[in-house]
Amino acid sequence: MRKRIVAGNWKMNKNLEEGKKLTSEVINIVADELNDDVQVILGTPFIHLDSVSKLLKDSPKIGLSAQNCSEHESGAYTGETSAAMLTSIGAEYVILGHSERREYFGETNEQLAAKTDKAMEHGLTPIFCCGEALDIREAGTQKEYVCQQLTDSLFHLSADDIKKIVIAYEPIWAIGTGKTASAEQAQEMHADIRTHLAGKYGAEVAEEISILYGGSCKPSNAKEIFAGKDVDGGLIGGASLVARDFVDIAKSF
Ligand code: G3H
Repeated sequence: MRKRIVAGNWKMNKNLEEGKKLTSEVINIVADELNDDVQVILGTPFIHLDSVSKLLKDSPKIGLSAQNCSEHESGAYTGETSAAMLTSIGAEYVILGHSERREYFGETNEQLAAKTDKAMEHGLTPIFCCGEALDIREAGTQKEYVCQQLTDSLFHLSADDIKKIVIAYEPIWAIGTGKTASAEQAQEMHADIRTHLAGKYGAEVAEEISILYGGSCKPSNAKEIFAGKDVDGGLIGGASLVARDFVDIAKSF
């Protein structure tokens, strides 16, 4: 059975004290209320990672993720953070290719292929984001667009490596807008993604890959969205900043 995952992406929110407080709240609620069959992940800003990692030491149910990493190994790249640095402080996952990184920082499919390789070389699990903007959805070409993102950035991987990746489908028009893809729209794209993966790697491999939905996911809509047979959880932005809401989403399977 595929892993069910609910990953929080705090984006550029919370100072360190606030981030530690949120982490402690999540730890407590998860310990009291969550089954072992859901993997919860906290995707914090770089500056929080080390402190959050220490807080998570006795909470094996909760993983730690960065929100980006460099495609370079090390060297003169001012302001960048390497995959090796992330593993050295206990990060296990890294969010790659978020639409905000693609849009505001010009990240390309090719660069994301290199980031994916570097992350995996250092044992990080990429949470690889894909998704279309509103004009592409309105033109009806979202499936081709999203599949091309995956082909360009991931299809050089071996079958063994692609199985380690987590994919997050995030329709850009639903991110932070309060506008959610319908459960049918989410399931349809997740099934298309899985079919695309199966076309390259075979059905057995595709069946093992967790595909998360992201875009205004909240406690009030998570159950319906997660009911899709190809929806294996969520990448949660705004609602991951409130411990109660975040864990309630993780309880929505
Ligand atoms: O990474 C998370 C997604 O961008 C979704 O953000 O839940 O605030 O819409 P949101």
